[in-house]
Amino acid sequence: MNRHLLSAADLTRDDALLVLDTAAELAAVSDRSVKKLPTLRGRTVVNLFYEDSTRTRISFEVAAKRLSADVITFSAKGSSVSKGESLKDTALTLQAIGADAVVCRHHASGAPHTLSRWVEGSVVNAGDGTHEHPTQALLDAYTMRARTGRLEGLRVAIVGDVLHSRVARSNVLLLATLGAEVTLVSPPTLLPLGVDAWPAETSYDLDAVLPKTDVVMMLRVQRERMGAAYFPSEREYARRYGLDAARMAALPDEAIVMHPGPMNRGMEIAAEVADSVRSTIVDQVANGVSVRMAVLYLLLAGGQTADQGRGGAA
Ligand code: CP
Repeated sequence: MNRHLLSAADLTRDDALLVLDTAAELAAVSDRSVKKLPTLRGRTVVNLFYEDSTRTRISFEVAAKRLSADVITFSAKGSSVSKGESLKDTALTLQAIGADAVVCRHHASGAPHTLSRWVEGSVVNAGDGTHEHPTQALLDAYTMRARTGRLEGLRVAIVGDVLHSRVARSNVLLLATLGAEVTLVSPPTLLPLGVDAWPAETSYDLDAVLPKTDVVMMLRVQRERMGAAYFPSEREYARRYGLDAARMAALPDEAIVMHPGPMNRGMEIAAEVADSVRSTIVDQVANGVSVRMAVLYLLLAGGQTADQGRGGAA
């Protein structure tokens, strides 16, 4: 693997499968009474969050702690960033304290890439603007493989606000690498310019796509990123692109429903769908810990075999 994980496009098929297989091994740690491995003892992981997060921030923190790293979680709110300190000066500060990995979420697309030029440790993109969220794509692929048993040829529909979604872009890139067939389903106003070049089909018609889908991934409508009206009303959006129980019934029997969270219940997804047995939403969060453990392990201790990492670093 590369030193950094900035984009799902950084991962070859072998890299991605190595992360998923390592995560599957590490998942056993979460079932133990003592959920700890010595693998990253003495290493420092900084979680640098310039934008709000629940799942990603908590799961990176838990993942690093389960590998025995020293963890510093840094939110822009309450730090010297609010006094105007630049990303570069913040990076130099992290460098000075000896950060071995910086997990960065930022409202600006490309910020983790820029950061990677200023620190010697590994940088992991934990979501940058509307650009990418590669560890979300990895945990989604892990969940799909765990629930359906395959990724090659899997028919995945990614539905909703593609325009503002870093999750969609990273999933399309990773799923194409892993051999899945992706269809983006969205109103025309919520598809990005240049989407024709993405390795995915596009459709405006959710009802036509659902019966031919193994995995339906609903995207959050990102109202906080919308400066203009992209659809007539929330009610109209839900009517055409929301997943309710009637629409879920059109899916093949074994199909699963995913959402990266946070959800707008009642808009892109009905509560009865989010809470149904087909929903993997809670599994996705749990799997996120194992996948992020695997990413940190491979970036920081990747030269060791998994067995050496489990025992040898004690
Ligand atoms: N899926 C995701 O990135 O959630 P958070 O914004 O809560 O981290």
